[in-house]
Amino acid sequence: MKFFIDTANLNEIKEAYDLGVLDGVTTNPSLMAKEGISGEANVKAHYKAICDIVDDNVSAEVIATDYEGMIREGKELAKIDNKIVVKIPMIKDGIKAIKYFHNEGIRTNCTLIFSAGQAILAAKAGASFVSPFVGRLDDISFDGIDLIEQIVNIYANYGFATQVLAASVRHSMHLIKCAEVGADVVTCPLKVITGLLKHPLTDSGLAQFLADHAKAAGK
Ligand code: E4P
Repeated sequence: MKFFIDTANLNEIKEAYDLGVLDGVTTNPSLMAKEGISGEANVKAHYKAICDIVDDNVSAEVIATDYEGMIREGKELAKIDNKIVVKIPMIKDGIKAIKYFHNEGIRTNCTLIFSAGQAILAAKAGASFVSPFVGRLDDISFDGIDLIEQIVNIYANYGFATQVLAASVRHSMHLIKCAEVGADVVTCPLKVITGLLKHPLTDSGLAQFLADHAKAAGK
């Protein structure tokens, strides 16, 4: 199972990378705006800075929603670094753009997936990743984890190479449930990854070990 961090914040990306368990980064226009990044040159420089931290898999999203625009922007993004995965929205022209990039050998991440039908279309077009949004489905009383399981099963039935990238993963239990149903990748904020560390019995057990060691050493 791969771990991607869902942020455009360079410090958080470095912290996750230093932990030794990070396989990639996902960004979106909202996350870039949160870091105050705007303007073509700044956006490209920021993606390059992210690529310089991690080993691979940096999703960079197109802003255009028409076929020609997505192709133009996607090609520019892909030129930044070979770690870039072009992120394309799940719309009709997006499917055509995914097919184009697949034929060109450029990796894509089809984003804003909320149904199994959308995931089938994206896989047929040759997406490298699909991003079903778990938390946003939970927000409106649909079970996001059920959708991950459904897509994992469908892709297994046909041997699709597209990886299921569970997105909008908001807490550690989401991550564990994604692992149970076989998501290939999860993308989440840093706090979700560090949340996996926590257990009160680990803390109290360690405190006891250190106290016993100190006692035996006569401290
Ligand atoms: C996916 O790539 C999205 O950037 C992200 O996971 C959305 O998460 P949110 O629903 O918490 O904004």
